[in-house]
Amino acid sequence: MKNVFITGGAGYIGSHCVVSLVKNGYNPVILDNFSNSRQTVLKKLKTITNKKIISYKVDLRDKSKLKSIFKKHKCYCVIHCAGFKAVSESIRETIPYFDNNIGSALSLLECMEENNVFKIIFSSSCTVYNENQSLPWKETIKIGNTKNPYATSKYIIERMLMDLAKYNKNWSIRIARYFNAIGNHSSGLIKEETNGVPNFLVPYIVKVAKKELPYLRVFGKNYRTKDGTCIRDFIHVMDLADGHIALLKKINQKKGLKIYNFGTGKGTSVLEVIRAFEKQTGVPISFRFSKKRKGDAAVSYCSAKKALKELKWETKYNLNQAMMDVKKII
Ligand code: UD1
Repeated sequence: MKNVFITGGAGYIGSHCVVSLVKNGYNPVILDNFSNSRQTVLKKLKTITNKKIISYKVDLRDKSKLKSIFKKHKCYCVIHCAGFKAVSESIRETIPYFDNNIGSALSLLECMEENNVFKIIFSSSCTVYNENQSLPWKETIKIGNTKNPYATSKYIIERMLMDLAKYNKNWSIRIARYFNAIGNHSSGLIKEETNGVPNFLVPYIVKVAKKELPYLRVFGKNYRTKDGTCIRDFIHVMDLADGHIALLKKINQKKGLKIYNFGTGKGTSVLEVIRAFEKQTGVPISFRFSKKRKGDAAVSYCSAKKALKELKWETKYNLNQAMMDVKKII
């Protein structure tokens, strides 16, 4: 059984990847500092997978601890999900953001190289793309004109990986550019955990449904879109997790670096998300329109064709199915 190290494996996307890894016969090893996740997730993963998942509490910048883990377990491939992801926080605390996201990636790569582990899947983001390019966004469009330090940290890591693959032919590097992950495992046991007021749309809707927040603010109503609200490519987190399995299955076939969009290829408006939630859960969501949020793109959705062609992977769940799963957590 192949050991796959998964950094940030206790987090939202990482924990869902752990479920898919086990289901597909891999042995996940979680590396997480639990700064933005909870230890209780490990028990929940055990319940879902029927397997005790090996896990280490480690800050990836702690090289000596990281090295000891690489010495202890043979590693087939690393899935690097760990990282701070709150955009607003990245603006307030720019240096800690760079230190954590870029510092962790560097330390991890150094340690991998030292241990002759040259396969990595990196969790990147659609925020690396420059806006105002023709839709759907393909992997080949321009990147780098980033709008906040969070996005910049993803971009910088991508650029480091590009150079690494260019100048060191040992490496097999895959970059997955996630669009908007939503939903949760059908058990409802693992989900996106948010402390305080969530930034992301669906976690916010969930809090309103649970009456923990009074109403949702819909940022902007006069975008040039079908109903005036922003359009995003919402992908079920289990689909996203399965995308990593598709990458893993083929990572041995070709060295070098490859980039894939992880999205549905379909644009959905904010109002459509609210309606789908209401329809699937039967819970009405009160919302008010408020002014546009700074930095929001009007429309973002991907071309998912490259992943389908090369990885034979495509999304299975639609928005309604994602919302049926969200119903389990309200
Ligand atoms: C967010 C992150 C982005 C990350 C991406 C994928 C921000 C600014 N961007 O994108 O860096 O890569 O997820 O994980 O956080 N909305 C409301 N009311 C709310 C919350 C959101 O109307 O309370 C709207 C937003 O204006 C946006 C849409 O819902 O149009 C989605 O927002 P959100 O869930 O925050 O994701 P993104 O901003 O698209």
